[in-house]
Amino acid sequence: MDPSTAAPAAAPGLATRSEALFERARAVTPGGVNSPVRAFNAVGGTPRFIASAEGPWLTDVDGNTYVDLICSWGPMLLGHAHPEVVTAVNAAVSRGTSYGTPTENEVALVEEIVARTPVERLRLVSSGTEATMSAIRLARGFTGRDVVVKFAGCYHGHVDSLLAAAGSGLTTFSIPGTPGVPESSTALTLVLPYNDRAAVTEVFREYGDRIACLVTEAAPGNMGVVPPEPGFNAFLAETCRAHGALFVSDEVMTGFRVSRSGQWGTDGAVEGWVPDLMTFGKVMGGGFPAAAFGGRADVMACLAPEGPVYQAGTLSGNPVATAAGLATLRLATDDVYARLDEVADAIRQGAADAFTAAGVPHVIQSTGSMFSVFLTEPSRLASSHLSPSAPVRDFADASTTDAAAYGAFFHAMLDRGVHLPPSAYEAWFVSAAHDDRAVQTVLDALPKAATAAAAAGVN
Ligand SMILES: Cc1ncc(COP(=O)(O)O)c(C=O)c1O
Repeated sequence: MDPSTAAPAAAPGLATRSEALFERARAVTPGGVNSPVRAFNAVGGTPRFIASAEGPWLTDVDGNTYVDLICSWGPMLLGHAHPEVVTAVNAAVSRGTSYGTPTENEVALVEEIVARTPVERLRLVSSGTEATMSAIRLARGFTGRDVVVKFAGCYHGHVDSLLAAAGSGLTTFSIPGTPGVPESSTALTLVLPYNDRAAVTEVFREYGDRIACLVTEAAPGNMGVVPPEPGFNAFLAETCRAHGALFVSDEVMTGFRVSRSGQWGTDGAVEGWVPDLMTFGKVMGGGFPAAAFGGRADVMACLAPEGPVYQAGTLSGNPVATAAGLATLRLATDDVYARLDEVADAIRQGAADAFTAAGVPHVIQSTGSMFSVFLTEPSRLASSHLSPSAPVRDFADASTTDAAAYGAFFHAMLDRGVHLPPSAYEAWFVSAAHDDRAVQTVLDALPKAATAAAAAGVN
C-alpha cells in the first residue's frame, strides 16, 4: 500500500497527516518511533512521516519535500533510490529474499571490503550494534581478558557493556548508562575522556594486563563530529599493542562515507599501524540491514566454526542486503567522494556565514564530508587554546552546545524545506545526489534559521 494513502486525511484536531500518524504510532509503539532520536524529543514538535525519497529529496505524507541532511544517519551515500542500486535490489528480490545458505554475493561483498581496507578476514552481520558486540566478544575470547576501554561520547550501538557512563574517577569501572543494563554488564568497562592521552596511559598502567580491547570510533560522529587529534589513533594502537590488548576501530559511521578506502583518514597507512579489528555498517548495506566486523586473520580464526568463539545470525549476509551493499560500494568512485566534499564545503561555509551574520556563537567541525554544528561559545571550551581548528575535543566540550537554539534553528530549516538531524549532537550527512538545486535550497534557508537560533539562544 502507498503509505501516503494509508494515513487519514486529517483527524479532528490534528492539522497534518504526520500528526495523525504520530498519534496512531504512539498508541502502539513506545514514543511512536522505532529508534529514539526519530521522535523529535530533542527539538520538539512532530516527526515528519516520509512517504518516498529520491536523490537528495524526502517527501512526507503531507506532500512536503525536504532536502535530506540525515541520509538515513549515513547509509545513503549515493542518495535515495539510486537507479542502479534499485535494479540490483529488484534483481536480488526476484531470486528469493533469504536462503540461510551461502551465496556468491556474500563472497563478493566481503572481497570488496577486504580489498579496500586493512582487514584480512571479515564476517557479515545485520547491524552495527551486532558488529561491535561481536568484535568485543571476539577480542575477549582471543585475549582471554575481560576489560574493555571506551570513550565518553562515542556510540557503538546499544551493546549492554558499552551503554556505560564513567565511574567516579578515571580508573574506576563504569556504571550502567541506562536502566535495564545490569551493573555486572558495565563492571568491566572503563570510560575515558576522548582525545585524552594521559587518561589512556593511566588506565593501561593500572589495568593493562586485564584489558581485552580498546574500542573507539575511528573519528567520532556521535557527540557531533569530534575528530581525533593528529596521531591519537596511532597512539591508541601503539598503547594497545604494548599491553597485548586489541585495538578495535569502529567505522560503522565513517567507513566508506569519508573515503573510498573504507577507512577514516590515512594516518594508519602512513604511520604503519592497522587496527586489530574493525567494524562497518551503514554505507556497506546500501540502505539495507548489513554490517560487518573483521581484522587480523589470526584473531578472526578464533570465530566459530573455525574457532571456539560463538557468533551467528539468521539473516547475516542476506542476499538483498548484500546486493544493495555491493552495488553501492562499486558505484562509490572517487568522483562520488569529490562531490560529497564539494556539497559539504558549500553547506558548511553557508552555515558559518549565516551564524556569523546573525551573531550566533558556533563551532563547525568535520571529518571528510561529515560535519556538525555546535552552537557554543568557543571561548567556553576547556581546550580551545589547545586545538584551535577543532576546539570541541571531547564529550564535555560537546555538551556545552545550546540545545534550545538548535531546536529553533532546526524547525526554521524544516519550515524552509531542509530536514536536519533532529538533535544538536549529530553529524549532518550529504549524498552525491545533492545537486545544485538541493544545495541552494539549504543555502537560502540558513540566514533566517540562524536568526531564529539567535532569538532562542541562551549562550
Ligand atoms: C559508530 C557507530 N557504531 C555502531 C553503531 C550502531 O549501528 P546500528 O544502529 O546499525 O546498530 C552506530 C550507529 O549509529 C555508530 O554510529
